[in-house]
Amino acid sequence: MKKKLLKKMIKKRKKKNRKKIITKKLILTRQKKQRIDKLEEQNITYNTAMQTSVLTTQKELEIKGKPFFRENGIAILHDDILTTQLIPNNSIDLIVTSPPYNVDIHYGQHKDNMTYEEYLEFTRKWLKKCFDLAKDDGRFCLNIPLDKNKGGQQSVCADITTITKQIGWKYHSTIIWNEQNISKRTAWGSWLSASAPYVIAPVEVILILYKKDWKKTGGSKKSDIDRKEFMDWTNGVWTFMGESKKRIGHPAPFPVELPRRCIKLFTFVGDTVLDPFLGSGSTLVASFLTGRNGIGVEIDKNYCELAKDRLTKEAKIDQFKLDLK
Ligand SMILES: C[S@@+](CC[C@H](N)C(=O)[O-])C[C@H]1O[C@@H](n2cnc3c(N)ncnc32)[C@H](O)[C@@H]1O
Repeated sequence: MKKKLLKKMIKKRKKKNRKKIITKKLILTRQKKQRIDKLEEQNITYNTAMQTSVLTTQKELEIKGKPFFRENGIAILHDDILTTQLIPNNSIDLIVTSPPYNVDIHYGQHKDNMTYEEYLEFTRKWLKKCFDLAKDDGRFCLNIPLDKNKGGQQSVCADITTITKQIGWKYHSTIIWNEQNISKRTAWGSWLSASAPYVIAPVEVILILYKKDWKKTGGSKKSDIDRKEFMDWTNGVWTFMGESKKRIGHPAPFPVELPRRCIKLFTFVGDTVLDPFLGSGSTLVASFLTGRNGIGVEIDKNYCELAKDRLTKEAKIDQFKLDLK
C-alpha cells in the first residue's frame, strides 16, 4: 500500500516538474518572439527613415583630407582625436560617445590603465578638442560610468562633469542608463557584514551638455521622433540591455539603441554627428539609419575595419549608391 502511494507521489511530482519546464519554455519563446518583433519594428523605423530622409536631406560632409572610409554622408577617420586635423572647428551638431573608462580593457592601441590623474588629464584634452569641433548650438551626449569601484573608489561622473564645465561646456541634464546587467555583480566587499560592504549601482550615465545655446537654430528643422519615443526618452531613466562584446567583436561596444535615441532626440534630420571614440562603429550605424551625417574617429585600424564592416552588413550602406562627398 505504502509503495503504491509513493509511486503515485513520484508520478505526480514528475508531472508537476514537466508542467513547470513547459511553462518556462513557453515564457522564453514568448520573450524571444517579443525581442524579434521589437527588432523588426526598429528596422521598419530605420527603413522608413532611410527612404524619407537619407536620400533627400544628406548634405556635404566637411572633412579636410583623406578618410579611411567615406560613403553616403558617413566617414571613418583612422586618427587620434587629441591631434586630428581632419575635422573643421565649429562643424558638429551632436557628439555622442563613450570614451575609454580606464578600467584596464585591452584595446589594440589605447593604454587603458593610467593613473586616475593621468586619465583626467587625457579626458580634459579630448573634451577641449570636442568643444572646438562643436557648433555654437552643438550638443554632447557623453556616456560614462557613474563611479569606479575597481582599484580604488572614484567619483568619475562628478569629476568629469566638473572638467566639462571648466572647459566651457554647459550642463543640461543627466540620463541614467539602466543596463540591467546584474550578472556583472561579483564584489560584495564584506559579505553580510557592516565592516566594509561595497555598494555598486548597475547603471551608467549619459551627460547631456551643450556649447553655447541650448535652443537649436541651425539645420533642417525636421524632427523624426514620434510621440511615444519623445514621451519615453524625455524620462531620464533609460532601460535597455548593453551590447555583447562577443557578438560585435570589440571589448567595449555600446548598443546602437544608445546613439539612436540621442540622435533622434537631440538632432534634426541631416545634422552631423561625431563619435571621437568610434570603436566598432555603433554611432555611425545609428547616424546612417536615422538619416544623419556621421563622422567617427578611431585610433585603431582594426576597429576602423570592424566599423566599416558593420556599416555594410548592419546598415547596408553600400546599397545606397548616392555618394554625396
Ligand atoms: C569604449 S570604446 C568605444 C566603443 C564604441 N562606443 C562602440 O560602440 O563600439 C573606446 C574606443 O576609443 C578608441 N580610442 C582610444 N583612444 C583614442 C584616441 N586618442 N583617438 C581615437 N580613438 C581612441 C579605442 O581604440 C576604443 O575602440
